[in-house]
Amino acid sequence: MGRIDTLLATMTLDEKIGQLNMVAASRVVTGPGELRDLHEGIRTGRIGNLLNLWGADETRAVQRLAMEESRLGIPLLMGLDVIHGHHTIFPVSLAEACQFAPDLWEKTARAAAEEAAEDGVALTFAPMLDVARDPRWGRIIESPGEDPWIACQMAAAKTRGFQGLDLAARDSLAATDKHLCAYSAVTAGREYASADVSERALHEIYLPPFASAVAAGVAAIMPAFIDVAGAPMTANAKLLQGWLRGVVGFDGVLISDYNSVAELLNHGVAADLVEAAALALNAGVDIDMTSGAYIQCLPEALQRGLVTMTAIGASVRRVLKLKERLGLFDDPYRRGSVPLQASRAAERRELAREAGRRAIVLLSNRTEVLPLSPEIRHIAVIGPLAAASGEMLGSWASAGRPEDAVSILDGLKAALPQCRIDHAAGVEITGEKTDGISAAVDLCAEAAIVVLCLGESAAMSGEAASRVDLGLPGRQRALAQTILGLGKPVVVTLSSGRPLTMPWLFERADAVLATWFLGHEAGHAVADVLTGKFNPTGRLPLSWPRHVGQVPIFYNELPSGRPYAPGVHYSSTYLDLPPTPQFPFGHGLSYSRFALSDLRCEPTRVRAGETVEVSLAVHNESPVDGDVTLFLFVRDPVASVARPLLEVKGMQKAALAARERKDVTWRLPVEDLSFVGQSLERVLELGRFEIHVGQSADAAGLLSSAIELAK
Ligand code: NOJ
Repeated sequence: MGRIDTLLATMTLDEKIGQLNMVAASRVVTGPGELRDLHEGIRTGRIGNLLNLWGADETRAVQRLAMEESRLGIPLLMGLDVIHGHHTIFPVSLAEACQFAPDLWEKTARAAAEEAAEDGVALTFAPMLDVARDPRWGRIIESPGEDPWIACQMAAAKTRGFQGLDLAARDSLAATDKHLCAYSAVTAGREYASADVSERALHEIYLPPFASAVAAGVAAIMPAFIDVAGAPMTANAKLLQGWLRGVVGFDGVLISDYNSVAELLNHGVAADLVEAAALALNAGVDIDMTSGAYIQCLPEALQRGLVTMTAIGASVRRVLKLKERLGLFDDPYRRGSVPLQASRAAERRELAREAGRRAIVLLSNRTEVLPLSPEIRHIAVIGPLAAASGEMLGSWASAGRPEDAVSILDGLKAALPQCRIDHAAGVEITGEKTDGISAAVDLCAEAAIVVLCLGESAAMSGEAASRVDLGLPGRQRALAQTILGLGKPVVVTLSSGRPLTMPWLFERADAVLATWFLGHEAGHAVADVLTGKFNPTGRLPLSWPRHVGQVPIFYNELPSGRPYAPGVHYSSTYLDLPPTPQFPFGHGLSYSRFALSDLRCEPTRVRAGETVEVSLAVHNESPVDGDVTLFLFVRDPVASVARPLLEVKGMQKAALAARERKDVTWRLPVEDLSFVGQSLERVLELGRFEIHVGQSADAAGLLSSAIELAK
């Protein structure tokens, strides 16, 4: 008998259920609830998993209790939200998505895993793979953006990065892909609300990133808090057992979200906690995070005949298997046994700076005021986000220290030592006070240029942070309008966890950059781009709306029987605004200028199983070295169901020296042209397919060709 069989044969019912119980050991609070008696629970084997504890000494102390003072000495599994860094904080996930760089996505996850593992953590609740199309939803900051294909690439890269080559290595973390599924589609963008999405949307938009993560070997998956069309995900046997375990073949651990087993009562699908525990377990949820429903109620659920010992045993086996894969049975202290490698801190800060500047999107450069002229001797840095270093960490800071973050103001001061830099906040991020505006105006009087740092606080996005207003909070608009009226060049940096709607600003500012929340190196990264030390290469992973009334908004929409046509009354539009975004998916400027030409598809007639080579020429027409970002889109113009106007099927970045010309090539497998058919099976239909390549989803900038799929 193997170790796990032996244990299963020896464990009492309570000890078994203890392995399915995860409690908060709290150094941080990430949800409601109370602390339970941790130590006693660990000794009696009623607590097998913890969250929210880190630190070599702290984790070792509780692990020692489990190993030496519990009857069976089963190691604890310790999880933490290591989302975009642990000690070193990298850009928030939405900002990372702007990099369109899977190698970098993997690297930052690897660095975060190494740091967290040094702190005794073995499991992270990341990456989040919720394809998000509605910026009212605060968790869009944690998302990979609006495109499912991009989300699939991120799923694989992040999973590889966190888990490393060997899950048992002492610098590997088990990844938990979350939140299955459609959490981002909550009604009206309101946090925790119901999502009523079609089966097609599930299978084309929301589920594929999870299949991609499973293919990459992900260890754990977390169902979402919400219900999808009335079926709460924590009890959704159809998707968890049927689709995830059955169709996709996931054999890892399912971990509930925080307290969500008990919340099945609020959903109105369980009459009491016993029923809630039974529903979740029968749906395949192995670990109950913090609700206590399993440990308190599974014994009674057994007595009532609502669950079987077989189901409990299967879940316990999966949890023990994960502990085994993590190497915890062989050496439960392996993570946290190496002292923190301070020597690597500088290297990780460099990585954070690189990740930060690659995440910045130059949205506009109307008067080509950027990059800043080296002649400038006096800058006024205005706005409430200029010196707000702590805000730069974003929505999940893990063990990252706010005092180690570089503000935009300090980044600029460091980059431009010869320049006089004055600062006034003018207004606060939120709040109604405007009495600081006149001092800010005075400060601008002699400056050659104003850098205006606007945006949200970090807490205005993330969990439980939906907003109905996507404009600037507080009195920042009043500040911005006054500054824009001074007649000076104004460069705006937007720190936010979502796109903010403000056409008035884009019309008047000389340049605007989306700087999101870039982590510890935020200020240096922003300064690198403003000064031209780094040529911006970030691109939008979502469509940036003009107005909150346009959301959800996304590039890959269906054509409609009455497609939008400017000036045509009976076309798909609004009376008061066009349906087009402020900036399309993929938008982002560079200090270089690229021209695309000579799109070719080889062969143009293909069969199933073959591959098409798509290539084009890119020319850097400018005197500045830079990176071009290219998207490969397909469209199936006539099919058995309406197909999107464009769908991303490839992306590439290429570095081009000044005036350089390069050929860029993709190999597109014909199977990538398949889609979810009418009966929800995957179909590949014969006929013509359009192939488009461009720097964004803006139809005007696309090169187009076509191929024929024949029998
Ligand atoms: C609730 C969040 O939804 C989830 O993403 C997170 O991992 C858990 N809390 C644990 O903090």
